[in-house]
Amino acid sequence: MKKPLLHALQGHTDGPVPIWLMRQAGRYLPEYRKLREQAGDFLNLCYSPDLAAEVTLQPIKRFGFDAAILFSDILVVPDGLGQKVWFVVGEGPRLEPLGDGKALAKLDPGKMMSKLTPVFETVSRVKSELDDKTALVGFCGAPWTVATYMIAGAGTKEQAPARLWAYKNRDDFSTLIDLLVESSILYLKGQIKAGAEVLQIFDSWAGSLTEGERQAWCLTPIERITQAIKADHPDIPIIGFLRGAPGANVKLAGINAIDGVGIDTACDLEQTRREVQTLKTVQGNLDPIALLAGGASLDAGIDLVLEKLGGGPLVFNLGHGILPDTPIGHVTHLVERVRAYSKENRGV
Ligand code: CP3
Repeated sequence: MKKPLLHALQGHTDGPVPIWLMRQAGRYLPEYRKLREQAGDFLNLCYSPDLAAEVTLQPIKRFGFDAAILFSDILVVPDGLGQKVWFVVGEGPRLEPLGDGKALAKLDPGKMMSKLTPVFETVSRVKSELDDKTALVGFCGAPWTVATYMIAGAGTKEQAPARLWAYKNRDDFSTLIDLLVESSILYLKGQIKAGAEVLQIFDSWAGSLTEGERQAWCLTPIERITQAIKADHPDIPIIGFLRGAPGANVKLAGINAIDGVGIDTACDLEQTRREVQTLKTVQGNLDPIALLAGGASLDAGIDLVLEKLGGGPLVFNLGHGILPDTPIGHVTHLVERVRAYSKENRGV
């Protein structure tokens, strides 16, 4: 039997509903917190293959998820390109902001690949330890989301600095997006070469753009990246995730090289079933806060996703990353409930 995640991403509905969670390796796990303390710096953890591989595998050992997601961060790409990146505990990422277009000339995709060698090493170590049921997911941030951090130097409210840059310095912004398209292709191909079996592209801040800007800076770059990957690796499924832009999921699903569409907590499930799931496999939607809450609210949330989308190709996941305070027992319960659904409704 094929790995359930790969089977579901090929559009099949006769296997179990696979389950994994965005940010499944993270601070809600005591074993992660322990190792994170040992590593000290967050980027150091991302660049230490033995530790990063162990962290990637922690949630697999504990919960038996159907996928392991490479432990890294979307911001290793700007770091690899030569922009200074660091993480402030309790606050989040910091980068030396790009300032103006002149800074772009210093960014070098050629150098990036050697700087990111430890990440590829993590991928191959994890791959060698996975069983024949668990798929390995590689990822990158979509160009727009990565650009928002590169321009502002941190997370920002409504991504205003990047949106302003895009309006005022259109040519420079376009050059930056092109550079990130090129870098993402190299980076994702490197992950495939090292053993990644599925890819996910995170466009976490797609929701702050107008329809026109979203087409230019989110959808078109994602289409370029996925086409380039598929040209060399037609069998590697790719999941796109535009957070905060439910209306754009139909367009995302319409991209040939996209196999799965990640849906956030705000998506209308009935509309997703009719307009998106008829085109591609869908993944996600459970509210991370329902998982934090547990009890009847969690069960109702799980059941709603399964009831609305379980009839078609589905990957069970959250609508955004798991929260650090989430009780471990709630995650165990979630996995059991989704697996029980597959037994009862799909006989597997
Ligand atoms: O999903 C996984 O388990 C794989 C690892 C992963 C991380 N970040 C680890 C991480 C993945 C896929 C990401 C993606 C990522 N990183 C995104 C896109 C998805 C999303 O969540 O919207 C973004 C926007 C980032 C940038 C980033 N990294 C931010 C804003 C932060 C700080 C917020 C926070 O939760 O602290 C990070 C840090 C980060 N990346 C942590 C982890 C486990 C926490 C670091 C720590 O241990 O202190």
